[in-house]
Amino acid sequence: MEETKKETNLIFSGVQPTGNLHLGNYLGAIKNWEKLQETKKCIFCIVDLHAMTTPENRNEIKKNTREVAAAYIASGINPDKNIIFVQSNVKGHSELSWILSCHTPIGWLNRMTQFKDKAGKNKEKAPLGLYSYPVLMAADILLYKSTHVPVGEDQKQHLELSRDIAQAFNRYYNQDFFPIPEPVITGKATRVMSLKDGLKKMSKSDPSDQSRINLTDEPEIIRKKIQKAKTDSLPFPNKIEDLQSRPEVMNLINIFSALSDKDPEKIIADYNDTNFSAFKKELTDMVETNISKISSEMKKLLNDMDYLNSILRKGFERANEISEKNIKELKKIIGFFGA
Ligand code: TRP
Repeated sequence: MEETKKETNLIFSGVQPTGNLHLGNYLGAIKNWEKLQETKKCIFCIVDLHAMTTPENRNEIKKNTREVAAAYIASGINPDKNIIFVQSNVKGHSELSWILSCHTPIGWLNRMTQFKDKAGKNKEKAPLGLYSYPVLMAADILLYKSTHVPVGEDQKQHLELSRDIAQAFNRYYNQDFFPIPEPVITGKATRVMSLKDGLKKMSKSDPSDQSRINLTDEPEIIRKKIQKAKTDSLPFPNKIEDLQSRPEVMNLINIFSALSDKDPEKIIADYNDTNFSAFKKELTDMVETNISKISSEMKKLLNDMDYLNSILRKGFERANEISEKNIKELKKIIGFFGA
């Protein structure tokens, strides 16, 4: 496949090592990368520097990093064809982040909704790193001169900011140095919601384990969780418009759609006039098959530390080579001493 990859396109994406990966992480991000790797050059990062912006993610960062790496590979990301590496290993990320922060007006950062959500009421106590998080994300993408970034709905604003920063830098130095990265919209269930509340995102920090399907859940647990997943007292919908007012049903149909590659319209046509039991049974089988394959593969990988470490080392070397080359060029453009 290598020769069919278009060298002008470079995909970059990343997942934070926060522990307890779930169906939302898989369907919202990793699963969509599987197809991209067939035709595009891809870099998949484990963004540990981003994870440390939230205090609860600073524990077990090494273990969680290995877990995400294992999840990437177990989900079918080929480590020979793609670069899989850990963000903190490549120092260019922090270096570029500083440089870009000097080209980012504070007003742009003040508009970021994720910061507002995460900082909550007590903004004065929020760490600077949480505030400048989107600049680090721009650095991740631009460090490799990436052209395309698969992101879910919740990261679109950050990607938009990365584009603005790239343009600001290019304009300031009157160069075409950074490509302006485009979003890649893939997959159906880019936003997987809680099984208990269709308006809340599926999250590892939800106190109810029933609200999510973990990549490590055993088949019986998965079955119970889907059986109990909230729907409503109405029969299966018979037109797509009905889903707007039925967020829990929409979520289950979206998950079904992402796993089966069938459009929601087709699913509605297949199951309308039935109750939810046949639909839920089929959904359970699909989730179970997918998750159990990934979780058993993850277990194997996590038991072979030497192999996993060697992949991350190789990934680091390949990423670092690009990073060093680009940082060198950048320093020349800026006109630093010694560059
Ligand atoms: N902020 C992203 C998230 O939480 C993770 C991320 C960091 C990322 N750097 C990135 C995603 C660069 C895409 C490209 O989902």
